[in-house]
Amino acid sequence: MAGVGSPLEPEPLQGRNMMPLGFRRAIGVTMLATVFSFCQPGVAGATGQAGSIWGADYFPNIPLITHEGKEVRFFDDLIKDKVVVINFIFTRCPDVCPLETARLREVQKILGDRVGKDVFIYSISIDPDYDKPHVLKAYAERYQIGPGWLFLTGSQADIVTLRRKLGMYNPEERGGNLKAHTLSLLIGNQSTGRWMRSSPFENPYVMATQVGSWLHNWKLPPREGQDYASAPQVRSVSPGENLFRTRCSACHTVGGGDVVGPNKEKLGPDLFAIGQKRERGWLIRFIKEPDRMIAEGDPLSLALLEAYDSVPMPNLSLNDADIEHLLRYIEEESRRKGAPESPPGTIAGEDGGEKRKGEP
Ligand code: HEC
Repeated sequence: MAGVGSPLEPEPLQGRNMMPLGFRRAIGVTMLATVFSFCQPGVAGATGQAGSIWGADYFPNIPLITHEGKEVRFFDDLIKDKVVVINFIFTRCPDVCPLETARLREVQKILGDRVGKDVFIYSISIDPDYDKPHVLKAYAERYQIGPGWLFLTGSQADIVTLRRKLGMYNPEERGGNLKAHTLSLLIGNQSTGRWMRSSPFENPYVMATQVGSWLHNWKLPPREGQDYASAPQVRSVSPGENLFRTRCSACHTVGGGDVVGPNKEKLGPDLFAIGQKRERGWLIRFIKEPDRMIAEGDPLSLALLEAYDSVPMPNLSLNDADIEHLLRYIEEESRRKGAPESPPGTIAGEDGGEKRKGEP
């Protein structure tokens, strides 16, 4: 899970991911899943006003038509002040696009009603002469795409310009070899100027967490070196709740039961009263670096991994203050849901702490 939410090096949008598809595929899912890059403003030549976020003068404001036949402009209507997920598809695509679409559909399901309100998903056709609005509409219907996700078409030349600008154009496509199209998604928050590439093979829960976490910076100017908790509040929720919603809720509930994925896989344990079930030092470290604890062979971490083997708990690069906020939120929420008030820090098993059958 390297790279999830971690402060990666700034990268220009241009020129990334130019590997031919065949090679990229050969690398395999695991490696692809780690191909992330945060793209920060301030890259020479890419910024509009000095030091500012990529704005209208960076992104081409090309006209596009939605699968519902509505005319829109790329910058003004689609990305301005929004958190967006953008990918490029074509409906005649035999293999990878359906997979990409299916993955994104899971992301959309996980994000639920935030899609269309806080997050917008755009699939732009790279075969616009064939993918007329009615073709895209049929495609969206075939995948039962919900609101907040638009399929878009336009002029071939405009779309190529856009893709070049976004660094998502593969020169091998020239001559109509559409299959060479780069396989990646762009996740961005136009108002903070953060852009990140993600793989369509990324675990949808991790992707939803990434997108969700960006909402935390919703409309805030980009700032470096600050923890999430010290950022100004967006909604009137506690920093811990905010972190939980954006970082954890794709895989965990507090008192809502284990989160189960679309294929019935168990995604993560219910964290209800977890502070009473686990020793505090263990909890803090597990939230901070579960990957290392597993690598070190910590018995409890291994037992949990075995019980929830579909996704490992990712290392989300949280700092100590974040974790404090999170644990406080989980504790408060557990109490709201009826957890008895008892001192935290008791060790699992020794205090006869609540354990369900078959649970580590
Ligand atoms: C992509 C899914 C995912 C996300 C996101 C995630 N977790 Fe987990 N978490 C898991 C899984 C799966 C486990 C079970 C252990 C394992 O398989 O690694 C787990 C285990 C845990 C445990 C140990 C539970 C126990 O019974 O001791 C804690 C605590 C925890 N997570 C907290 C968090 C917090 C806090 C966040 C958000 C900052 C978070 N997790 C985000 C998937 C996730």
